[in-house]
This record gives sequence, C-alpha cells and structure tokens, in this order.
Amino acid sequence: MSLAIISPGRNPQIWIDALRKYDPEIKIQVYPEIQHPEEVEMALLWQHPRGYLKTFPNLKLISSLGAGVDHILSDPAVPDSMPIVRIVDEKLTWSMTNYVVMGVLNFHRQLTRYQKDQKRKVWDMTNPEIPVRVGVMGVGALGGDVLDKLNYMGFDVVGFGFSEKESFPYPYFSKKQLQEFLDNINVLVCLLPLTPDTEGILNKNLFEKCQKGTFLINVARGKHLVEEDLIPAIDEGYLSGALLDVYRVEPLPEEHPFWEESRIQLTPHIASVTNPTAAAPQIIENFKRMKSNQALINLVNRDRGY
Ligand code: GLV
Repeated sequence: MSLAIISPGRNPQIWIDALRKYDPEIKIQVYPEIQHPEEVEMALLWQHPRGYLKTFPNLKLISSLGAGVDHILSDPAVPDSMPIVRIVDEKLTWSMTNYVVMGVLNFHRQLTRYQKDQKRKVWDMTNPEIPVRVGVMGVGALGGDVLDKLNYMGFDVVGFGFSEKESFPYPYFSKKQLQEFLDNINVLVCLLPLTPDTEGILNKNLFEKCQKGTFLINVARGKHLVEEDLIPAIDEGYLSGALLDVYRVEPLPEEHPFWEESRIQLTPHIASVTNPTAAAPQIIENFKRMKSNQALINLVNRDRGY
C-alpha cells in the first residue's frame, strides 16, 4: 500500500527524499505517473486536479502539503467522510510570523519611505515612527504566534475570530464586535482560514469601518480580499496601503493593477512555504496512525473548514 504525492507543477523529489528519510520503506507514487491507483491509501495534495481522487478506490486519508485545506475542501469529489489532515509545524509558523513582523516593522519604521528618500537624496527626520496597534484576524496556530511575538516586542495587539472565547491572553473580539476590533487597530493582519464565512471578508464595507490610514497585511488567501475594493479604499484614505502575499489568481496576472500600485507591496505567495524536512515526520506519523486506526494529528474539522 502506498502514499501518492499530487502536486502538479512542483518538483516532488524534495518531498520524496524527506519522507524516505523518516521511513525508508515507504512506497511513494507521484502524479501524473501513478501506475497503481488501487494501492494508494494516503494522498498528499497541493492544488490537485479537481475530481482526480476518484481514481483511488482505497484512499483512506488526505493530507494537505500546507497549512491551508481550502484547495481540498473546494473539490466536490472529496468524500464528506474522508479524514483530512494539514501541516502544523514550527518552521511554517516561524516563517509566517517573521513575514508579518517584517510588514509591521516596515509600516512602523517606514523603510519604504526612507528608500524613496534615499533615491532623491532627501534627509527628512520628521515623524520617524508611526504608532502601531496590530489586529490579527484568525487566532489559530499562526495568528496566535504572530500575536505572541509582536506582544513580546512591545506592540499592542488584539485578536479577532469567528467564535466566542472565554479566555484569551490578549483583547479578543468576535464576529459581532468587528467595529470595536477595527476601532482598536491601525494594522490589520488577515490569517483566517478560507471558509464560506471568511471569503471576501476584506471588502469595501470592512475597509470603511477601519480607522483612517489602516495598513492591511493579507497572508491568508487571495479570496479573503475583494481585490477591486482595495485601491479605492486606499484612494479614499481608509487604508494607507497593503502588503499582500496571496491573490485570487496566482501567479498574479501581468495586467493586474496591483503590480503598478506603489502603495501596495507584493510578494509571490512566499510568506511561509512548507518545509518538507520539517513536515515529513507528521506525514509519516499520520500514515502509520491511519494504518493502525489511531487518532490522527492535525485533523481538520470538516464542519469548521479548518
Ligand atoms: C500556504 O499557503 C499554506 O497553506 O501552507
């Protein structure tokens, strides 16, 4: 029985090497050269072709190759009863937090402004620090770490999530308290999972509730943002700018207006890329647990969608 890697367009060798290091015996088949689909019991997926899982009659477990599982849940061919696990790993969390900290510090200490000044040989010592209060939407493994590290660095932080929370180490606002949450912050970080509830949450309506000049950092999914609402929100002053790592269409099409917009900083979905060496042990562990009917780690709650 074997494990299948289905991650079109990416080099699977680094995953094969990492998995074999932890289980030299493991049988791995790689899309599109899957010769024995009937042997596949676990599928590792990243942007798999819709419907493709139907070719595996003995599939028992799906693992995302990343933290997100929206690419799996959006495929109607994934049976409701199929367990899905995702990657939760310290390295992934560390990279994500570093990226967000970079965005917060750049806003706070205005590196972009000084780079522009340098080009024009301008010596401008006014207002060297923008006061910052950071709000993180999505307070799971990633959001929680961002809050902890920024708090440690001395920033005021608050969290926002869809569920009510009895206790939380920082001020916390639930869905009903969106306005209160936005009143408390001037940097908005989106780290929500992509679900029907959260899709399009970063829209005109929300931007108009922000304090003037709020800076947006979206490191979750492109579909959280209604992209056509972003530049108007900056023009109207609700937002001062944005740092984006994710887009509705990736790679970002050449004709997309974000490329030309100096108030938007872009990176190509690299905020936190799963490290195969770090993720392999939990994949192998879940493969073994699946075979011996033990409880799986990092199991996705299908009702919540993450
Ligand atoms: C990356 O976007 C991930 O979900 O890990």
